[in-house]
Amino acid sequence: MNLDELNANFALPERLHFVAGGGGLPKCVIDAEEASAELYLYGGQVTHFQPHGEKPILWLSPDAIYKHGTPIRGGIPIIWPWFGKHPKFTGLPNHGEARIQHWEVIRTGLGEEGEVTIALRLESRGGENACWPYPYELVHEVTVGRTLTVRLTAHNRGLRPCLINIAFHTYFRVGDVSRVAIDGFDGRFYEDQVDEMKSKKQVGPVRIGFEIDRVYIDGDSEIFINDSAWERRIRIDTYDSDAAVVWNPWIEKAGAMIDFPDEGFRDMVCVETGNLALDARGLLPGTAHVIQAIIGLE
Ligand code: BG6
Repeated sequence: MNLDELNANFALPERLHFVAGGGGLPKCVIDAEEASAELYLYGGQVTHFQPHGEKPILWLSPDAIYKHGTPIRGGIPIIWPWFGKHPKFTGLPNHGEARIQHWEVIRTGLGEEGEVTIALRLESRGGENACWPYPYELVHEVTVGRTLTVRLTAHNRGLRPCLINIAFHTYFRVGDVSRVAIDGFDGRFYEDQVDEMKSKKQVGPVRIGFEIDRVYIDGDSEIFINDSAWERRIRIDTYDSDAAVVWNPWIEKAGAMIDFPDEGFRDMVCVETGNLALDARGLLPGTAHVIQAIIGLE
């Protein structure tokens, strides 16, 4: 569908419409009763969420690339159906294929309290020539109220069971990452991706003063990003998401990424929630699996 068709079929007067975003890609602009948001159909990716009167909650790289084949750096990319490098084949996209596909809009709606919902779908018939041989359907429902709710349902539409990784790779905006403390991980084990995947135990809140890339398992369903510079606390409530990744590239890795400003690592942190690594899930034919995150300010 082109922009005119999207607006004719799905726009909500004064609340939701579609425009050409970066690289001319279709972008949904939402102005709900209590917050604004933006979402690209490419990647089915939320790129902005801001409760009225507050600073933005999500980080979006000013150097993000809006081009088919490249994931948008920032917001909430979707990890599906593998995490990181493909388990077997080199040359396949990092974090799977959902974040570099065009999703279709299936529904928009307005709730009783002025919250706005948009639902998107991504389908694949799989097959031996596909990146992922198993047929699937993903449905991504995004609701913008005082909080942002992202709910992702994965259906196995094939005849074989498969093992899936599924997560929200959320980039959060913070005032000064070196003054951030993240609660929800105390006492939990993690694989340290910058130290030979060693298993370590978290003691106290997560603090960031160097490159950090950790996969936590057996997580808490409530995570808090305490941001002293901006004197605010972001709360993430998750559903059926036992794994979480905390990632900040710090100086060297930030400098090596073309779509990431050299100093960008100072005002972001990724807290990614879902099922990945040791928390990968089996998905039987004809069944579905749901993850959800509710993101807001305390
Ligand atoms: C995190 C990984 O989930 O994503 C990191 O743990 C990775 O290892 C980061 O560097 C960013 O990945 P990408 O593919 O978006 O550059």
